[in-house]
Amino acid sequence: MMNPDRTIEAVGLKALVDTLNRCGYLPFYLFFGDGNFRMREWKVAAQRLTEPLRSLVRLFLLQMPVRRAAVSRIVGEQTLAQLVNTGILLEQGAELASNSFCLLSFRSCLCFCQLNPEPWAYFGRDSAALATFQSYVPGGRVLDLCSGPGIQALLAARSARSVTGVEINRPAWQVALLNQELNSVGNHLRFVNSSLEEFARRNHQQFDRILFNPPYLPVPEGMDYSIVGHGGGDGLAVTKSILELFRPALKADGRFEFIGVTLGSGAGPAGYNPLLGLAKEHHLHGTTHILSKHPLRTDSALVNAHAVCLARSNAIEPLKAREVLLKQFRARGDEFFFFYFCSWGKTAKHCAPTSNVIDMSSRRSNYWFV
Ligand SMILES: C[S@@+](CC[C@H](N)C(=O)[O-])C[C@H]1O[C@@H](n2cnc3c(N)ncnc32)[C@H](O)[C@@H]1O
Repeated sequence: MMNPDRTIEAVGLKALVDTLNRCGYLPFYLFFGDGNFRMREWKVAAQRLTEPLRSLVRLFLLQMPVRRAAVSRIVGEQTLAQLVNTGILLEQGAELASNSFCLLSFRSCLCFCQLNPEPWAYFGRDSAALATFQSYVPGGRVLDLCSGPGIQALLAARSARSVTGVEINRPAWQVALLNQELNSVGNHLRFVNSSLEEFARRNHQQFDRILFNPPYLPVPEGMDYSIVGHGGGDGLAVTKSILELFRPALKADGRFEFIGVTLGSGAGPAGYNPLLGLAKEHHLHGTTHILSKHPLRTDSALVNAHAVCLARSNAIEPLKAREVLLKQFRARGDEFFFFYFCSWGKTAKHCAPTSNVIDMSSRRSNYWFV
């Protein structure tokens, strides 16, 4: 856990950024791709590195321990103390180790986030997807709900006049504050530690964009799952409540921009009807990009990966978790997962909301990108 009383000191973080630049950390990381997670390749390439880059890569990418004295020499005692106080690094005798954190870069934005099977400071390919698809809002007001360590809010702050990120989990919120300092983003970006429900109750502002990458994984009733991913039985529970609670906070010409997963009963448009039903219900219109679709079968990589996570959260065997998952899908008549990005605005009072669906799923695609 992070120290709740800490204050973020910009000086130490500026020194860290200077050190990373001096040592060539970013070109090493970015060689493998923007926002990449290629741990295996980092590991092989790190064998040929010399100090001080070797220690930085061990600590901030490979999550391997490094002698405290060496880290102190490289980043300085003040920065080191700050990374320990914020819970990014853990002291283990004479060594320092990462608390499952990696320091990634996406679109030239530095981001501390956790890479482990159950991260609470989350950054994944879905984060990169929303961060890629979100539109810039020059001079506008942006709200980023479920902001986690903050990548979408940080990027929005490059063009918007004001950005607010809302995150329920205090340690994740603190990582967002740290990332804000790391990227020298000023006070026009504000991260709030609150549930989105509480924030909606107190908010009186209207926004040009409301972004969200919500917890969106379908979790069978009665099963536990991390708050980072729990999207209710159909995966749309948080999305539904955001659309309902925040529609009044959207300006007349504003837009919700969000990603997620929906479950459906057919490969064609009928499959994503639950999602389009939501647009209709909330009198929203705009474009919906279907990015990929995946059959719900025992041999599906997605179903198996989800079953492994469910199994871990509920202390059961993965095969058992998969059985429960597929049983729920079949009972609902669901046959496919659809991955989507939506850009929806308010429909004028007397107009019928129209949804323009752009189906990209026939392309040979992964989940979010080709
Ligand atoms: C999938 S992560 C997205 C994080 C980040 N926006 C990204 O794309 O990397 C979802 C985040 O929503 C947060 N969250 C879940 N329920 C919430 C709620 N009711 N109010 C605010 N944040 C919530 C979780 O703690 C988690 O950090």
